[in-house]
Amino acid sequence: MALLQKGIKIDSNNIPQHIAIIMDGNGRWAKRRGLTRSMGHREGARVVKKIIEQAYDIGIRYLTFFAFSNENWARPKAEVDELMRLYLEYLKSAENETNDKNVRVRIIGSREGLSKEIIDQINKIEKGTLNRDRMTLMIALNYGGRQDILQATQKIAEDVRNGVLAIDEITQEEFQRKLYTEDVPDPDLLIRTSGEMRISNFLIWQCSYTEFYFTPVLWPDFTEKDLKEAIIEYQRRNRRFGDVK
Ligand code: IPE
Ligand code: IPE
Ligand code: MG
Repeated sequence: MALLQKGIKIDSNNIPQHIAIIMDGNGRWAKRRGLTRSMGHREGARVVKKIIEQAYDIGIRYLTFFAFSNENWARPKAEVDELMRLYLEYLKSAENETNDKNVRVRIIGSREGLSKEIIDQINKIEKGTLNRDRMTLMIALNYGGRQDILQATQKIAEDVRNGVLAIDEITQEEFQRKLYTEDVPDPDLLIRTSGEMRISNFLIWQCSYTEFYFTPVLWPDFTEKDLKEAIIEYQRRNRRFGDVK
């Protein structure tokens, strides 16, 4: 946002507790440079690391990245393979990178279709960081919002069938606990890069009262300044939740 005056600071009393990011535009970024889409994804991964550092320093409690959607399997196999290679590499490096930080790592989404290597690495990092509590980093990998709602419904149905849950006990809170995000509070702010203004089946249950921020910046070009601007814009919003204020 070019209008942002210099010197405006993030209000430390109104930090979004949970920021979710749809990092989009890696392919277009690469194309504009005459590079392969893979190179765009590599560059995008570098930005992820930078933004995690910044969010951690600002004091964001939950940070969620959309890394791979259920629908992304439709891409050419070579691109999917390259993305999976990149995620495995990332999950391995994340272990070291979060070592000196109080960051818990969680991977949300379906395990179906992921390689054993990736699943092993997910289990390792989730287990290894389980007791950390300054920031929770969630990576949505093989995730879809509708699929999330369906799998939660299946768990609920199973509980009802097994007699551990009565039908009138199916509340929003109960349902929420069955989603991949479990006890994580809903995103306060959702950022999507690359100029697309849609949710693309991301956290559709969880985003019912989330503030949306769209920027034309392509994900590999996203900087600390862009995150800061998104947070400052969020702080200007008036969240009413249906009430009058
Ligand atoms: C986002 O960038 C990364 C993933 C979806 C994995 P894209 O690959 O969607 O980039 P564009 O939208 O084609 O530019
Ligand atoms: C959304 O981006 C998914 C991720 C960022 C992982 P897409 O590029 O897949 O979304 P569409 O196809 O443009 O809606
Ligand atoms: Mg895209």
